[in-house]
Amino acid sequence: MKRVAVLFSGVGSNFLNLLETLHTKECTIACAITNNPEAEGIAHAKCYSIPLIILNHKPFASRKSYDTQLVKVLHAFEIELCVLAGFMRILTSVFTSQMKAINLHPSLLPLYKGSNALQRSFEGPEKECGISVHWVDETLDGGAVIMQQKFDKTALDFESYEKKIKAAEHELLPKVLSDILKKI
Ligand code: GRF
Repeated sequence: MKRVAVLFSGVGSNFLNLLETLHTKECTIACAITNNPEAEGIAHAKCYSIPLIILNHKPFASRKSYDTQLVKVLHAFEIELCVLAGFMRILTSVFTSQMKAINLHPSLLPLYKGSNALQRSFEGPEKECGISVHWVDETLDGGAVIMQQKFDKTALDFESYEKKIKAAEHELLPKVLSDILKKI
């Protein structure tokens, strides 16, 4: 089975969802990495006995030096594919030249790149909204889109919109990952 790493910075609901859907069935989540020592998602790694690495970005002088360490850890765990699920870091070519990675983003890219996309996409004038899974390159949320899921947001308040986004993410990410695992 392919060895996958999940990287996250916060709640980790997508990380948990991958543990529940694909881990030990279609891939091995061989490690999880967070840059946030307080991330709620840390509990999910403990629950599933997944090796967890807390790699705080704060002591690093540059993005490149952080990414050098990140890649070192990923190589040590023999990771073949990274899944960025709420990992709030812009990655440099140090990472992208050495690691295959996909990212989940709560908007229909190329619309609403960057942080706070969920809120901005809700407030935007478009009728449709949705989520994207894309390849990671060194541009912010700019790599090639692999798959998107959309829905009409016109009748939704923010709370129900957010729930629909989460539900879509929990459906799309395992689906895309499963497809990719068959090809790499
Ligand atoms: C998701 O909305 C994802 O699209 C974005 O960060 C969020 C992570 O959510 N990149 P969670 O921590 O997996 O619940």
